[in-house]
Amino acid sequence: MILRSFFSVLPTFLAFVGLFLNYAQISVAVDLDITSADSIKEAASQIAWGAMKYYTGNNTGDVPGNLPAPYYWWEAGALFGEMVQYWYYTGDDTYNAEVLQALQHQVGDDDDYMPANQSKSLGNDDQVFWAFAAMDAAELGFENPPDDEPQWLALGQAVFNEQASRWDAADCGGGLRWQIYTFNAGYNYKNSVSNGGFFQLAARLARYTGNSTYTDWAEKLWDWWADSPLLIEDKWQINDGTSTTNNCSDASAVQWTYNYGIFMAGCAYLYNHTEDTKWLTRLDGILNTTLTRFFPTSMGDKIMVEIACEPAGNCNNDQPSFKAYLSRWMAVTAQLVPTHYDTIFPYLRSSAQGAAGQCDGGTDGITCGREWNTTTWDGRYGIGEQMSALAVVQAMMIDVDKDLYVPYTNTTGGTSKGDSSAGTGSSSSGSSSAATETITTGDKAGAGILTTLVLVFTLAGAYFLCTE
Ligand SMILES: *[C@@H]1O[C@H](CO)[C@@H](O)[C@H](O)[C@H]1NC(C)=O
Ligand SMILES: *[C@@H]1O[C@H](CO)[C@@H](O)[C@H](O)[C@H]1NC(C)=O
Ligand SMILES: *[C@@H]1O[C@H](CO)[C@@H](O)[C@H](O)[C@H]1NC(C)=O
Ligand SMILES: *[C@@H]1O[C@H](CO)[C@@H](O)[C@H](O)[C@H]1NC(C)=O
Ligand SMILES: *[C@@H]1O[C@H](CO)[C@@H](O)[C@H](O)[C@H]1NC(C)=O
Ligand SMILES: *[C@@H]1O[C@H](CO)[C@@H](O)[C@H](O)[C@H]1NC(C)=O
Ligand SMILES: *[C@@H]1O[C@H](CO)[C@@H](O)[C@H](O)[C@H]1NC(C)=O
Ligand SMILES: *[C@@H]1O[C@H](CO)[C@@H](O)[C@H](O)[C@H]1NC(C)=O
Repeated sequence: MILRSFFSVLPTFLAFVGLFLNYAQISVAVDLDITSADSIKEAASQIAWGAMKYYTGNNTGDVPGNLPAPYYWWEAGALFGEMVQYWYYTGDDTYNAEVLQALQHQVGDDDDYMPANQSKSLGNDDQVFWAFAAMDAAELGFENPPDDEPQWLALGQAVFNEQASRWDAADCGGGLRWQIYTFNAGYNYKNSVSNGGFFQLAARLARYTGNSTYTDWAEKLWDWWADSPLLIEDKWQINDGTSTTNNCSDASAVQWTYNYGIFMAGCAYLYNHTEDTKWLTRLDGILNTTLTRFFPTSMGDKIMVEIACEPAGNCNNDQPSFKAYLSRWMAVTAQLVPTHYDTIFPYLRSSAQGAAGQCDGGTDGITCGREWNTTTWDGRYGIGEQMSALAVVQAMMIDVDKDLYVPYTNTTGGTSKGDSSAGTGSSSSGSSSAATETITTGDKAGAGILTTLVLVFTLAGAYFLCTE
């Protein structure tokens, strides 16, 4: 994967160098007045356009739902989820047909977001980002697919059922592994984002359907995770991952925004649904650490920073999008736990203004950079930068549009049809899938979302040179 990334970013890098040499500052920028709905919508529209420029899947001959290299399949799922949110926040349906097509095209043979040809980069976290997009569609009242196509809620349930079946009590007493397939690097890793993905999905299904089976699973996941070195509960520190090779006795402590956001929002859905204060305490703990750790006062006033890679300038192609997820999950937490709105929103407002201020780069003059603490474009660009800026800017609609509905449940407006046994069919249990046989050792590659620095360090020099 590293080598593939190396070569795939090289042309972009060289093109960029060329562009930079001829670069003349263009006085265009994304203006944002966070007190004006029109201004937020206009800014979001410009940034969304910049994100969707990367997407070629609706062009003749291309494949709906895929992003071109160097972006992995999971990030496309995240993008389409964000574009569902874009429509919800702004009412602009320009991209809806493409988004619906993409979310349907990638369901795979078993209607479970495991297309066979993505096996090489398909971990539990990769799969769950597509399930989140389907849940966004269900909760936000996005257009339902035609009856003969898989429905949003059923897609979420299919992914839930499969991930529940992957619960691995044999190693480390439980939890999910990062990877689904034994042949993928990272199969021994049990990480927070995969476990948090299952946790949040269960929480959302619990709230949407009211079915207590999902609440039970969310509890079970939390209990295992909180007892493992993945959470240091007295500090509310979320670690990235741990390994089955030493029975999960220690953890990689690298700190990522999305690991916090994924559990924070899961707790918010559960608290909103159950009103059990234990979820509120957990939410508080995670939120406290989030606000101190990812909004460091030394790097601006309430500005979100991906501290593990942004200051050092060594984010890979996945990581610039992580602030999009923390932004979205803080925003939905504020909606679901209104008592926390006034705690959360100052951080989002300040970050939104910072993000929009970074969107004055590139040849179009509205390309978004990465570091939200300065209004001079930092020279970074990519779909992750666009997605992060879009998420935090469009969340400002919650502030100005008091009629914006909170995510639906099946009793408050949600109309998506479910199937609680989706994903329990014969061919859908991961490592037993036909995909296993078609992958040879020579195809072995790292998986989609590369959060651990272990692999990065291996080729650090070349990798950083070419991506940054
Ligand atoms: C693909 O979508 C983009 C953005 O909506 C649009 O500009 C373009 O015309 C579409 N292409 C095709 C072939 O439909
Ligand atoms: C992968 O599979 C999908 C169907 O799931 C197919 O449409 C697509 O052409 C295949 N190839 C690529 C590169 O995505
Ligand atoms: C592995 O860890 C689990 C969970 O902490 C524990 O229950 C189990 O006893 C450990 N196994 C060994 C062999 O240490
Ligand atoms: C909501 O989902 C639950 C669980 O599937 C179901 O029992 C209930 O009938 C649904 N309610 C509505 C209004 O569809
Ligand atoms: C979070 O921070 C607030 C304010 O400092 C404090 O009152 C609260 O106890 C903290 N919550 C947790 C769970 O640590
Ligand atoms: C902005 O953040 C970067 C790290 O991402 C830091 O190096 C820089 O000093 C910060 N600038 C300001 C003005 O705080
Ligand atoms: C759940 O969210 C709704 C909508 O914001 C809110 O009215 C309600 O008070 C929330 N429930 C709890 C327990 O916070
Ligand atoms: C609740 O979910 C479980 C697990 O998917 C399922 O077996 C059960 O039938 C569901 N109950 C209802 C009322 O939908």
